[in-house]
Amino acid sequence: MFELSTISADNKKDFYKELNSMLASLIGDESDWLANAANAASLLYQLLPDINWAGFYLFKKSELVLGPFQGKPACVRIQMGKGVCGTAAQTGKMQVVEDVHLFPGHIACDAASQSEIVLPIYHNGRLVGVLDIDSPVKGRFNNDDAEGLLGFIEVLNQHIDWPDF
Ligand code: SME
Repeated sequence: MFELSTISADNKKDFYKELNSMLASLIGDESDWLANAANAASLLYQLLPDINWAGFYLFKKSELVLGPFQGKPACVRIQMGKGVCGTAAQTGKMQVVEDVHLFPGHIACDAASQSEIVLPIYHNGRLVGVLDIDSPVKGRFNNDDAEGLLGFIEVLNQHIDWPDF
């Protein structure tokens, strides 16, 4: 089985370079999207310091529905435009929220969450869903996280043929 070694988090750019190549080798030539997305959520949860939730909401018909994740149980359905996830999905823009309490309409699934990053996932021009990561630390995510996680999604998209949900 895949051995998880810890990665030094001293330098975020190096951290994500290593994390993203770990994701590529973790997926290997496996084509099952659900298995790969579940392992991707686990990889984030195990290796990113100072986070309390990591996972996917998938775009189904006209709303987001909870997908593979690690962390406390979360709300199942999020309407487009609602909360941080619904905003990312509706606008197509990554949301980096320093303090979730200041984000209008933030949906509190885990009271421990203080900051959050949500990236929309597009594959072949189609909205697939969002990647959502929560932290118990205010201001946890910066530009290096944004760039590193964009790379993470790129690796996912290279390996995962997302179905039409
Ligand atoms: N906080 C999110 C909801 C999902 S949980 O963080 C897992 C939001 O406002 O969209």
